[in-house]
Amino acid sequence: MAKKTIDSVDVAGKTVLMRVDFNVPLDDAQHITDDRRIRMALPSIESVVNRGGKLILMSHLGRPAGKGDDAKYSLKPAAVRLGEMVKAPVHFATDIVGEDAHAKAAKLGKGEILVLENVRFHSGEQKGDTQFAAALAAMADIYCNDAFGTCHRTDASMVAVPEAMAGKPRVVGHLVGKEIAYLSDAIKDPARPFVAILGGAKVSDKIKVIDNLLDICDTIIIGGAMAYTFSLAQGGKVGGSLVEKDKVELAKELLAKAGKKILLPVDTHCGDKFSGDCNKMIVPAGEIPDGWEGYDIGPKTCDLFAALIAGAKTVVWNGPMGVFEMPPFDEGTKRVAQAVADSDSTSIIGGGDSAAAIEQLGFADQVSHVSTGGGASLSMLEGQEFLAVNLLDEA
Ligand code: 3PG
Ligand code: MG
Repeated sequence: MAKKTIDSVDVAGKTVLMRVDFNVPLDDAQHITDDRRIRMALPSIESVVNRGGKLILMSHLGRPAGKGDDAKYSLKPAAVRLGEMVKAPVHFATDIVGEDAHAKAAKLGKGEILVLENVRFHSGEQKGDTQFAAALAAMADIYCNDAFGTCHRTDASMVAVPEAMAGKPRVVGHLVGKEIAYLSDAIKDPARPFVAILGGAKVSDKIKVIDNLLDICDTIIIGGAMAYTFSLAQGGKVGGSLVEKDKVELAKELLAKAGKKILLPVDTHCGDKFSGDCNKMIVPAGEIPDGWEGYDIGPKTCDLFAALIAGAKTVVWNGPMGVFEMPPFDEGTKRVAQAVADSDSTSIIGGGDSAAAIEQLGFADQVSHVSTGGGASLSMLEGQEFLAVNLLDEA
């Protein structure tokens, strides 16, 4: 990536409009349950305020209907949390391009931050509306995209706003730069062996990722419920396990294309009902009896996968190996997480469930990179490019 970076522009006394992804999970009492996306935006935020820039932050949160009345999607809790993390004063505007935002932007001092209300409260955001974009664009001298988790979207704040700011500096932030360095650059020219670990429920979510990675990695390990669809494709018995029957033909094609590159589980940890205290047994893969469902990879599979990961020099992991939120069916995901953490590899963990699993299991500090993007990290692993990044200024 050769995009102009936030550090390379002179921001002193200028207003920077920065798109961040503060789409953080909130509990029913509006408390943030995971503030990683805010923390990961700090290097770009500090780069601006520490050099005397005036910073306006914009983000979406959740999927409100766009009528501006949905208080539970307010960005206020994220602004408050940011205020606890930085020394700079953090102000909050109760609208986006309305009176409050304009009044507070006009008063914004050097080294201060203004967080606008949820951009999705305006119906123009997800439509990519140019008038809405022009109103945002008019507020600033410099545009910065540091919203990696939203880079696969073409919402107004991601595309129409920087388009409307053509001629002014339009730069990339630290987080987007780091995510691309790992999820794209490191994968294009990987240290080998390059092992991809794919899990989760559905083959359909990962088809394009498998297709793209088959061309560049040495082995693709498959776990999670996805493996049962592959098992069906090999003529195995899967009992009542979660499968996608309409994807069996596709699984056959992927197996044929992969040759020996795809490594499937050799045993399965099953239960007789979806509960941690169900009856359990371990069976060879493809031999799950009726009345039983696969909930995790078995112990032989754990050993097999761990041994392969131990020798890897590049690892990409997306999707848990089993129902990791329901012990003891977290065992396979734990063993894989441990193996990734112990390995001497450049280790890249996709966002969403895999990021949650690695955090929850306490290994986040022992891997090279945990992505802040769910859909965005998958798109990147599919080999897709992002318009929201491509349109930024070249370095
Ligand atoms: C995410 O969490 O996936 C991003 O913030 C994008 O949100 P969206 O999927 O609602 O567009
Ligand atoms: Mg999403």
